[in-house]
Amino acid sequence: MKIAVLLGGTSAEREISLVTGRAVGRALAERAHDVLLVDPAVGDAPIGVREAEAAAEIGAAPPPIREEAGNAVRAIAGEAVRAADVVFVALHGGTGEDGTVQGLLELAGKRYTGSGVLASALAMDKRASKLVLRQAYVPTPAWHVVSFEQDLDPAARGGSPSLPTDLAPDQAAEAAERLGGYPVVVKPNDQGSTVGLTVVRDEEGLGPAVELSGRYSRHVLIETYVPGREMTVAVLGGEALPVVEITPRGGLYDYESKYTKGMSEYHCPAGIATDLADMLAKTALCAFSAMGCRGYARVDYRVSPSGRPFCLEVNTVPGMTEMSLVPMAAAAAGIGFADLVDRIVRMALK
Ligand SMILES: Nc1ncnc2c1ncn2[C@@H]1O[C@H](COP(=O)(O)OP(=O)(O)O)[C@@H](O)[C@H]1O
Ligand SMILES: [Mg+2]
Repeated sequence: MKIAVLLGGTSAEREISLVTGRAVGRALAERAHDVLLVDPAVGDAPIGVREAEAAAEIGAAPPPIREEAGNAVRAIAGEAVRAADVVFVALHGGTGEDGTVQGLLELAGKRYTGSGVLASALAMDKRASKLVLRQAYVPTPAWHVVSFEQDLDPAARGGSPSLPTDLAPDQAAEAAERLGGYPVVVKPNDQGSTVGLTVVRDEEGLGPAVELSGRYSRHVLIETYVPGREMTVAVLGGEALPVVEITPRGGLYDYESKYTKGMSEYHCPAGIATDLADMLAKTALCAFSAMGCRGYARVDYRVSPSGRPFCLEVNTVPGMTEMSLVPMAAAAAGIGFADLVDRIVRMALK
């Protein structure tokens, strides 16, 4: 089969996407597919899997990169994508995960992996996701949204419009109060990889945290902090894979502990009671279908000390690097990496 892998892109998660895309490309090439890697940040300049091996490492922080207008359109209109039987979307964050690229692929008449336009857009917008999750009885931490009038940084994405319930940035302390006080988690509405996220312990820390999040998104979520454990459930083709528990060394599963070897410990299947594992699996499937996801996704949780799961978000293009959680969960279910990638591709062709 001819397969184009979209990787890189212009989001804050570009570097991780490059690693995901290369790993996926390699696995597909091993299965004798005809694979080309295409970076929408660059335009129509496909490269082979071997050429891509001279890989950069993931740094400690995301590098800034600006969208060159039209490059993504040129990449998707280019020969590599046009000739492909299927497109593997390995773009994390930004336009590659929020439905924009998916929309281009729809217009180009291409089959592609993972979720479609609406589910992608919904999952990338944490507030919109939480409204849907709540409606589907999937527990999620209580929250308020603080909205800035305009983008502080003109390059930051505007995202969804404000709602009447949104508060002004100078009402952040009031929001924290209404949530029952500190600690609270402050995060941008539409970022991934813990970029722009702060756990705020007191009122003094609130202003800078809101301002930091505001650099990434016009809308900032202020969420009740859920103490306890960090777990995630991968959904593959309508089934939940074994639960992964993550123990970040520094306590917070941040950018560094996500992508630096040895900064987090992982247990899969998680050492938890069957009831809890079942509840997590059931809730993950519920979140997956409520959001209208397709193919595969990863549902992130905090589990409180009393054993109550709270869904933080659904990731429609979860990491697929060697250290990533979905491949780890698949391995625990007896599905190797190349098999996993192959299944995701086959689901796109159905
Ligand atoms: N309400 C919360 N309570 C406790 N920890 C949280 C909360 N929200 C986020 N976190 C921590 O921050 C990490 C990233 O948050 P998440 O909402 O999943 O955003 P991202 O899209 O950046 O992954 C989580 O994996 C968790 O460690
Ligand atoms: Mg997450």
